[in-house]
Order: sequence, then C-alpha cells, then structure tokens
Amino acid sequence: MTDQQLSSLIRQMTIEEKISQLLQLAGPFFEGSESQGEITGPMEAMGVSEELVRNTGSVLGLTGAKEVIQVQEAHLKKNRLGIPLLFMADIVHGYKTIFPIPLAIGCSWDMDIAERTSAIAAAEASAAGVHVTFAPMVDLVRDPRWGRVMESTGEDPFLNSEFARAFVRGSQGTNLTQDRSRVAACVKHFAAYGAAEGGRDYNTVDMSERQMREYYLPAYRAALDEGSEMVMTAFNTVDGIPATGNRRLMRDLLRDELGFDGVLISDWGAVKEMIPHGIAANEAEAAYKAIEAGVDIEMMTLCYEHHLKAWIENGKVNESLIDEAVLRILKLKHKLGLFDNPYRGANIELEEKLILSEAHRQIARDAAIKSSVLLKNDNVLPLQEEQKIALIGPFAQNGDILGPWSWMGSKDEAVQLYSGMVDLVGSAQIDTAQGCDIETMTEAQLAEALAVAEHADVIVLALGEHSEMSGEAGSRGDITLPQVQRELITALKSLNKPMVAVLFNGRPLDLHGVYDQVDALLEAWYPGTEGGAAIADLLYGKQSPTARLSMSFPYSVGQVPVYYNHFNTGRPQGAPDAQVRYVSQYLDMPNEPLYPFGYGLSYTTFEYNEATLSSTTMTEEQPLTIKVRVTNTGNRKGEELVQLYVRDLSGEVVRPVKELKAFRRIILEPGESQEVTFTLAEEQLRYHHSNLEFKSDSGDFFAFIGGNSRDVTELKFTLTK
Ligand code: BGC
Repeated sequence: MTDQQLSSLIRQMTIEEKISQLLQLAGPFFEGSESQGEITGPMEAMGVSEELVRNTGSVLGLTGAKEVIQVQEAHLKKNRLGIPLLFMADIVHGYKTIFPIPLAIGCSWDMDIAERTSAIAAAEASAAGVHVTFAPMVDLVRDPRWGRVMESTGEDPFLNSEFARAFVRGSQGTNLTQDRSRVAACVKHFAAYGAAEGGRDYNTVDMSERQMREYYLPAYRAALDEGSEMVMTAFNTVDGIPATGNRRLMRDLLRDELGFDGVLISDWGAVKEMIPHGIAANEAEAAYKAIEAGVDIEMMTLCYEHHLKAWIENGKVNESLIDEAVLRILKLKHKLGLFDNPYRGANIELEEKLILSEAHRQIARDAAIKSSVLLKNDNVLPLQEEQKIALIGPFAQNGDILGPWSWMGSKDEAVQLYSGMVDLVGSAQIDTAQGCDIETMTEAQLAEALAVAEHADVIVLALGEHSEMSGEAGSRGDITLPQVQRELITALKSLNKPMVAVLFNGRPLDLHGVYDQVDALLEAWYPGTEGGAAIADLLYGKQSPTARLSMSFPYSVGQVPVYYNHFNTGRPQGAPDAQVRYVSQYLDMPNEPLYPFGYGLSYTTFEYNEATLSSTTMTEEQPLTIKVRVTNTGNRKGEELVQLYVRDLSGEVVRPVKELKAFRRIILEPGESQEVTFTLAEEQLRYHHSNLEFKSDSGDFFAFIGGNSRDVTELKFTLTK
C-alpha cells in the first residue's frame, strides 16, 4: 500500500476506530487467546468493552504461532476495515533459546555475537507470531543498585552505540518486508532511564542536557541510525517532565532533531503515571500531554481511549495529531507485510523446529563462553580433568541461570553447572552439595558441604543472586552476595583448599567476602540456556575466557556511581602536588573500582611494548596512527582485547579522564607477538561544548593503549586546527 492508500484507509476510519488503533492491550483481552476469560473481571474494571478490543491496534506479550493465528483470525473477522493486529513482546535476550543477559553480551565486546543472538531471538519469536520486539534497551548505566543494569550493555557511550546497532541489525535484518525471520526493533527507554537517582527503579532522572547528549543519547541515536522502527518512552522524568509527556524530548529532540518518523510507544502504563508523577491532574490531562508530546501508542492504560475524543471535540487537540499517529502505526503494519499476510512469520511447524534447535543452542553456548569474565586467577584455573572437584553452592544444580526478561525460556531446559561439568569429565570426578540456598542456610546444608569438600582437590563454588534480585523493579541497596553465601565461603576456606567462585547474577556486585577469599573468580552473569555447558568449557580450559567488563565493579556500594569515564576534579588524588587531606577521596576506601571497565583475564598473559604515535601533532586532515606491540607471554594460546582511550587535557568543558575510542581483538600463540595499529582522527575527539555545539578543541591530548581502562601506556599529542 502506498502512503496515499493508507491515508485513504484512515479517512474511512471513525474517530473511535482511530483512537483505538493507538491502544495496546495484553493478550488475554483478545478472543482466541488461550487465557481469555481470566481477565473478564479486570476488563470490566478497566472499562474495556468488546467493541474497544475489536478496534485495538496492537497486542502486548502474546506469543505462540497457534494462539497468534487464532487471535488474528478472530480479530480480522470482527474489525470493520480488516486492519490486522500488531503483536509485540519483550524478546530481550532470546525467545525460548535464552542467551546471556545483555550486560553479559556487553562484556563480550563482540558485535557479531550480539547480532547473531538477536537474529536468532527474532527468528524464533517471528515463527511464534511476534512482529515487534521491545528491544534493544540501550540505557547507559552507572549504578549497579539499579536492577535493570542487566538489560544494558554498560557504562560506555561508544560501546553501547556499537551494541545498539548490532542488536537492531540482528532483529530487523535488511528487509523487514521480505524477511519474515526478522522482527521490528523498539529501542528503549527514551531517554536516560539508566540514570535513576539512587539506582531505585522508576526514580527521578535529572541531568544537564549536555550530559544527556554526551553520554546517554549516543546509543539511542545509533539504534535510530540503524533503522529501529520503534521507540519506547521512559518511565522517568527528564528535566522535571516525565518522558511520556515531554514534548521537548519527544517532538523537538526525537522527532525533529533525530529525525525519527516511526512509532513511539509509551512504556507500560506510563501515560497514566503522569498523575502520580504530578504533572497531570487526571487521565484526561495525561492523555492530552502524551498526544501533544507525540506518543503514538498507549500501552495498557486507557487515557487516550477515554479522553482523546473529547479533546478533539472541544478543539484543544487537532485531529491531525491522531491521524499522524494512526498513519505511523499503519505504515509499520504495512512494512511488516501484515496487510498481505496478517500472520506473517507465525508458523506452527517452523516454530517447533527452530525453538531450542541444536544450532541455536550452540550459539547460546558460544555467547556464554564469550561473555563470562575471569576476574581473578591465582593459578587454579583451568581445572585439570584428573582433579577431584567439590562443586558447592546454590547454583551448582540450579536452572535459574536464564536471568530476568527470559519469560518464555524454561529453567528446565537450562544446562545446570553440575551437568555441564559432568558432561565434560564424568560424574566420578565431581561431588556436589548445595551448601545453602540463595538467602538461607541450615546447619545440615553446611555440614554436608564441608563433608563433600573434605575429599576434593579443588572447591568450585557456584554462587549468586536469584533472578528476581535484578531486572525490572529489582533494585538493591546492598549489592553484596547474600550473607549466607559469604558465610559458606568462610566456612569452606577453613579447609585450606584452592577455591574457585563462579557467580551467577545480574549486576556488578560488591565482592567483599568473595574476591578476597577465593583463588579464582569467574563472573558468569546469567549465561542462558547453555550456561552450565559454557562455564564448564571455561573452567576446564576447553575454551579460554575472552570477555572484558563493560561496567565497573565497585570496591564498595559506597562509591557508587563509580565509572571509568569520570572527571578529574580540581583536587585529584595522586597528583604530584596533592595534599594529604584536601583531595577528592574517601577516607575509608579507594576511589577506584575493584575491577575497572575493560578488565578481564585470560588463561595466558600479554605484554604491551613499543607504543608509538605516527606524529605528536594531529590535524583535521591528518589523523594519527597509534601502534603497539602485544606479546603473548604465557604458555597458552589466547585472545586479547586491545583498547584505545583518549583524554582531552584542556577542553572548553571538562572532559573525562579516559574515553574509549576503539578496540581490536587479536589471537596470539604462546610467545607470538603482533603489532596492533589504530587510526585516530579529529572527528573522534569531538564533544558537546557548553553551547551544545559538537566539535573538537585544539590542544593537548593523551592517547592510552592497553588491555583495560586502568593499565595503559600513555602517549601525548597535540591537535592543531
Ligand atoms: C518495561 C518495558 C517493557 C514493557 C512491556 C515495562 O514495564 O519497562 O521495558 O518493554 O514493560 O512489557
């Protein structure tokens, strides 16, 4: 259909039909849904009539080819103009084959694996009838108390932007109309949801526009450049106004400046939430503010439904705003091919075939291997097959390793750590005990653990947070491992045996009582369906760890927010002329995180030598070439992630002490060395000035090159303009 045909369809729609096109309801409201009926009470309570459902534009969270086909079929029979429903769902890190959580994928620094995993998630979901995924979530994060850090790729705007692109590419492919194995992406949550004060979910966000543009916007912008079809509003305020009713944010910035012409959907209930936020007196006012701000679809509340018509009739809202919103929605339906085939990818046989297929599981295993970060290793790992292992802890035999936002995944399908290890070395080598539950421990559990550990050469602890401890509404004020797990470590430590801890969790933790007690520490995050197999591969050295942190691990929650790309202050610690007391520091803990951004070990070691610059001056025409020689100084083959950072020493506004500009992955045999070359150009030094102009400054800079953001070689150059 052409735009004209779509407009003519809109002309045939009544005002009620148009307004209902802007509504998104959950699956159980619809005829044909297998859970229909259960919601009759709530339906009436919400004021949802049969007629309303008949005209509704989109469905939230209903999946499964059979059910989607039933619902679409029933809908088309009843919808006067035969406008198909759009089916949207949160396919965040896998549909049924669950991949590592996005924060873990962030630690892979691997765009190929990000793209492949989201393409598989799209293929499984599309066969199950989904048209749009509410992903990627690209919110930059600095506060591990916030449970939703698990959905982000971390604290760096450049890395987040690269991932945003990869996820959108993976979901959408290059031709959404033709390629039914893909789904439309919906980048979220616009904007700056990741900066909730105190790390408490849904809390206030307040920051300067410059800060937002510099750190928070780049990843959304990247997702839009890559063609994300939809955007979701954030729950939070932006400069005092909830994002969903924020005209400046949505119309001026998102639509006019960033050129977004796709569908903007509110987050769940966010239109109505303007009332408790305190910028709308009632639902009518909330509807007014949201439509004026440019929100096309209202998710799960009925402010538009109940009030837009009156606003149009009293002349306060121009009907053209509704027509524009409907047109965007119909254009997306058209782009997805729904007017030609309203069932699109939904296919019962294909769904069955794709879901948890061997090929998908293999990529899930690979992704988990690439995203588990080795944080410490005092000569314990890799384990030897002949060693007797005591595998102890609440995650030794636990399928809760899929993580939040894996609602379609089955914990029963997850490979647990114990079975992954037994598959590799046989059950005779591994004794196991739970030791404690995640938050409780009995004396009998502890006694069993001690007895099992007594006969072992090495103790492997499988510890962590249960999946409800992070994710949406999963904020924690204390981000240590639950106390009983630390007690378990202390008790086992008395046996004086080598101890390895494997962590399953959704955020950077305060690792006191863990990192200082064990000999090796592997951060497995929530590794997904093939988690146990992947971690076993890493523990036994079938594979080597290659991941690097994309979010700092604080030394203590008291430092939070602690992130690598911070400012220096006028009284930095460690300056040659620094006083003892009057410097920016804590009296009781270091300023630095425990494990910095970019950090992660491998089973070999690397040395950096001969770092050079092609010139000490850069111009707009003449980029710099930066070279360094990296040598594998250990005795195993290994992969190193060479990272390039810069610092602008005197900007017009203060610039971070380090900013990631590039990274390169190299594989070296023992003893082998390779020269790694980066090109750094003037445009990579640009930033937002105080008047928001995006440009670079002439003057002195440092370039830093190294294997993480802390351990680097520093080179100085001057940009002349
Ligand atoms: C979350 C969104 C999600 C939506 C729909 C909300 O509560 O904030 O990220 O896409 O629910 O499930």
